[in-house]
Amino acid sequence: MNNNQQSTMSEFGKVAVMFGGDSAEREVSLNSGKAVLTALQKQGIDAHAFDPSEQPLHQLIEQKFDRVFIVLHGRGGEDGSLQGALSFMSLPFTGSNAQGSAFAMDKVRSKYLFLGGNIPTAPFVVVNKTDEFDCAEILAQLNNKVMVKPANEGSSIGMSEAHSAQELQSAIEKAFEYDREVLVEQWVTGREVTVSILNGKALPIIEMRTTHEFYDYDAKYLSGDTEYLCPAPLDQALTNKIQDIALQAFHIVSASGWGRVDFIIDENQQPNVLEVNTVPGMTETSLVPKAAAAEGINFEQLVTSVLKSTL
Ligand SMILES: Nc1ncnc2c1ncn2[C@@H]1O[C@H](COP(=O)(O)OP(=O)(O)O)[C@@H](O)[C@H]1O
Ligand SMILES: [Mg+2]
Repeated sequence: MNNNQQSTMSEFGKVAVMFGGDSAEREVSLNSGKAVLTALQKQGIDAHAFDPSEQPLHQLIEQKFDRVFIVLHGRGGEDGSLQGALSFMSLPFTGSNAQGSAFAMDKVRSKYLFLGGNIPTAPFVVVNKTDEFDCAEILAQLNNKVMVKPANEGSSIGMSEAHSAQELQSAIEKAFEYDREVLVEQWVTGREVTVSILNGKALPIIEMRTTHEFYDYDAKYLSGDTEYLCPAPLDQALTNKIQDIALQAFHIVSASGWGRVDFIIDENQQPNVLEVNTVPGMTETSLVPKAAAAEGINFEQLVTSVLKSTL
């Protein structure tokens, strides 16, 4: 480390790396958070672990933290509530503000914004716990195969596919265990890709090839048989188009800083946006670090670059 780098590192002051939390994605956050913390400390940054499920937020002030690196996934950490609290405390933090975090986390509100912004996305129906709904009718409207998702979850939690009215009924009931609002989305058959975004720029696209029916929790974190291709083998025109749409989708939900936009490219080569992630996984083998590596940015440079956006 030269003197120049050293002075940048001290410029960050005391950094809280917030991870853990009590959402359904706690385990994923613990892994990401430890990797981020280690990478920051290795570079001489005064970074400390802070788990909001164990420590009250006011300790951030008492312990004189200067900024926060958020590595919490799901409710409470990725949905805007923490971002709102930190803004109120005048503490700079990584990633999207409260509004962007809340919109991106909410798969239903995201769909409405995508429609408004002409972002290509699959047709859908929204079902509320208090509504009457007709599964056969919904299924017929959505080409007879759907993916059912709780509005506010991540990591494929509470999601299931359905191709009969009976399956749809139980898929919706399962999703209601997580949320009062459920997104029923037309099934898209095709290639799954994701675009990582770092400080306003799209990184190389990754294609995920799973042997599972879809990229479920297991395929994401447990089984070793998902194949990752980066840069994704797509022609230049389609690559540019997908990166452009990713940036547009990111902006339309008011996300900023860093994140990731998930897609399925259908059989007509049309990219469909699934969702925007404002705090994507950050272990050394996660998707954003993979994409950064393809651009020549190593894990330590990546976390520093994310942290720099708070200066
Ligand atoms: N409409 C769809 N058609 C086919 N597969 C889907 C659809 N929506 C989601 N999936 C599959 O489910 C996975 C998770 O969906 P996503 O919307 O990205 O939610 P999250 O990653 O927050 O759980 C995707 O990566 C994809 O494999
Ligand atoms: Mg996803």
